[in-house]
Amino acid sequence: QTIYLSDYQPFGFLVDEVALTFDLDPHKTRVKSRIAFRRNPAAKDAEFFLHGEQLKLISAQIDGKPVAPEVTDRGLTCAVPDAPFIWEAEVEIDPKGNTALEGLYMSGGMYCTQCEAEGFRKITYYPDRPDVMSIFTVTINGPHPVLLSNGNPVAQGQNHAEWHDPWPKPAYLFALVAGDLVAHSDRFTTMSGREVDLNLYVRPGDEGKCAFGMEALTASMKWDEEVYGREYDLDIFNIVAVDDFNMGAMENKGLNIFNSAAVLASPETSTDDNFERIEAIIAHEYFHNWTGNRITCRDWFQLCLKEGLTVYRDSQFTSDMRSPAVKRIGDVIDLRGRQFAEDQGPLAHPVRPESFQEINNFYTATVYEKGAEVIGMLKTLVGDDAYAKALDLYFERHDGDAATIEDWLKVFEDTTGRDLTQFKRWYSQAGTPRLAVTEAWDAGKGIFTLTFTQYTPPSAATPNPEPQVLPITVGLIGADGAHVAPSRVLEMTEAEQSFTFDGLDARPVASVLRGFSAPVVLAHDLSKEERLLLLAHDSDPFNRWEAGRTLARQSLLATITEGSAPDAEWLAALQAVLGDETLEPAYRALMLGLPSHADLANTLYDTGKTPDPAAIHEAVEATRDAMAQAFVSTLSELYDRHIVDVPYQPNAAQSGKRALTNAALALLTRVQGPEHAQAQYDQADNMTQQLSALAALLRAGHGDKALAEFEEQWRDDRLVMDKWFGLQVSQAAPEKAAEVAQTLTQHADFNWKNPNRFRAVFGSLAMHHAGFHHESGKGYALLADWLIKLDPVNPQTTARMCSAFQTWRRYDAARQEMIQTQLDRILASPDLSRDTSEMLSRIRGA
Ligand code: ARG
Ligand code: ZN
Repeated sequence: QTIYLSDYQPFGFLVDEVALTFDLDPHKTRVKSRIAFRRNPAAKDAEFFLHGEQLKLISAQIDGKPVAPEVTDRGLTCAVPDAPFIWEAEVEIDPKGNTALEGLYMSGGMYCTQCEAEGFRKITYYPDRPDVMSIFTVTINGPHPVLLSNGNPVAQGQNHAEWHDPWPKPAYLFALVAGDLVAHSDRFTTMSGREVDLNLYVRPGDEGKCAFGMEALTASMKWDEEVYGREYDLDIFNIVAVDDFNMGAMENKGLNIFNSAAVLASPETSTDDNFERIEAIIAHEYFHNWTGNRITCRDWFQLCLKEGLTVYRDSQFTSDMRSPAVKRIGDVIDLRGRQFAEDQGPLAHPVRPESFQEINNFYTATVYEKGAEVIGMLKTLVGDDAYAKALDLYFERHDGDAATIEDWLKVFEDTTGRDLTQFKRWYSQAGTPRLAVTEAWDAGKGIFTLTFTQYTPPSAATPNPEPQVLPITVGLIGADGAHVAPSRVLEMTEAEQSFTFDGLDARPVASVLRGFSAPVVLAHDLSKEERLLLLAHDSDPFNRWEAGRTLARQSLLATITEGSAPDAEWLAALQAVLGDETLEPAYRALMLGLPSHADLANTLYDTGKTPDPAAIHEAVEATRDAMAQAFVSTLSELYDRHIVDVPYQPNAAQSGKRALTNAALALLTRVQGPEHAQAQYDQADNMTQQLSALAALLRAGHGDKALAEFEEQWRDDRLVMDKWFGLQVSQAAPEKAAEVAQTLTQHADFNWKNPNRFRAVFGSLAMHHAGFHHESGKGYALLADWLIKLDPVNPQTTARMCSAFQTWRRYDAARQEMIQTQLDRILASPDLSRDTSEMLSRIRGA
């Protein structure tokens, strides 16, 4: 059954208040609800339908009198009075039997909830839609020292707690937690002087992994006050870490619930990347308090309203806390890797989709990351001051609303006077625009002209794309590397458009799409000399990195298709950048990166060639070997100069140095053998250095001893063991990857029902391009076996992992046939979930 945006109708009733009482029991939890309904004057239709799934209805009453509603497996309908009335129901649910991790479930002995998007209907009968907002009071009874829900605590007793949330909210923001937990606590005073109690609740044993998350929380609270003027609005803010969780985290009002991998951190057990990600996710969920909770979404088609904006806000936060250039480059790598693949394949959909079968399948890179890019473009177009004014108006006008993308754009139109009709296409059209640029130089007049053409390939979701509004940031550089024209934002609206720069003495080199100012695929025919000039001199750190990346890609493609040796000029230019001590170490570490295998496969496919995963793998290996040989002395120097030998701090400065020394170590191991990596492994007192040394050893074929020691050292730490599982797959030789994954599934600690552990093995396999796409087809078959096994237990995680197959049309006929066989095999399994069948039928095509 498909749901359409165009079918939106308001619900026939308003909910004035909700009171819920939980009597907790692992298999027989009782939930009593008392809900005050009245007719919604804005609604035509007044059918009283309440969502409800997997509930056992014990009793139902209206105004105190028993009623007999008509119940299906999707919900119930009932005849109701015209006047306001009180609905009361009691249902029984089975949290321990809930392996889908949606609704109320148990994880490691504790009760917890995940209601977004449509999980509340597995807790009780309710209008489970985001435009129905109400005030919740929650009573929890159960033999657990910690009993939590949303809002402020009103009563706490032995095995009993009551919570009241004064802010109206939709049901998807409901949360409940109960268990034997310990708190790491702090306090925050808001800008108007409100004292807020902060708690991070964890299972006993994890207390030592809370400090960083708490610091990230207070930093986020302060940042949102300073940058967006947003203040926290309750007396308490709780975060809970849960081991079994389908996603990263959830912004439930006043009670954020986190995948423990997204909040627990210590130097010994977490890498620098983990720390940075945790800081960003804490910020993301906290920022949702305004962009998501105080202003929520009218319906799930508007998901990007809260997610795109909140991702954009958390990226601003990370830029402020760390390095803006490094953050931007990392985000673009991620966007190209995940969002472009989605937007250019069978799963392509607009940032605001217009139809879906299962909304959980639309928590995508397009909604989140492209949604954030759209906000960034809007800000570039209107400018920082206008953006700030528009946001102030948004918060003022829509506080308490369930809003739409139209509402969002209107505040920009009203504050700037701009017409955003065309810009709105970014929300309605799928597909990545291709932007081509050609240059003309009029030496006599000193005029340089850039002519752009844009074209978005049609897709099933958008058969007739129209031109987008593109902010294109451009700077001009002279042959000596100096600037001739500072950055200027060109605003392109037509399919083809020219822009001129006059008053020039000599032909400049154009640095186009600085900062990656629009999420497009750029084709700019620069000569190698011009790219080398940009790599050496561009003042825009993104485009400087991009010049190096393009040279790397071209070198790799030549190796793949012609067997040529890695480009010596690129290597020499790169070496100069590496040795430039005025550049941040983290930035130089990024410069040492290469385009991913998937990126190369896509580029080949785009230019009409069929990618051969084995050839790509060999070319990347050969290029890395060549880099190692060419840079050996520079790398040794960099390693010695930047190795961190003071106590570990997860900050940007130290983590940048570790990123650089670890990138150097990985290359040095190729030419100098395993001794260096073994030494780092033996001396490491933090996970960042321990894990990268282990990776280097595994890749060199000398990791067996360290791997066994690692397991011995960390067998009791779930999050570290996820790394141990994942690393073995990601570092395996292509022909071994599926086998390694399969062997790991026999390990006593392979708990496949835990999403983190499942992803550690199978996410790593899917990401191992040459391994997953090995010509034997073993990777495809193994993943399919396990998706078939997981689907009845956890449809959400299964459906999400199906995207491993989304690029299948890129490959040769033999691989396509093998993948098709596996897709059909999964599709044929009995009682396949709605989640997985929607994903597979979209990927598979008609
Ligand atoms: N709103 C959460 C976040 O982005 C994600 C919740 C996803 N839930 C889901 N069932 N897909 O922070
Ligand atoms: Zn979010």
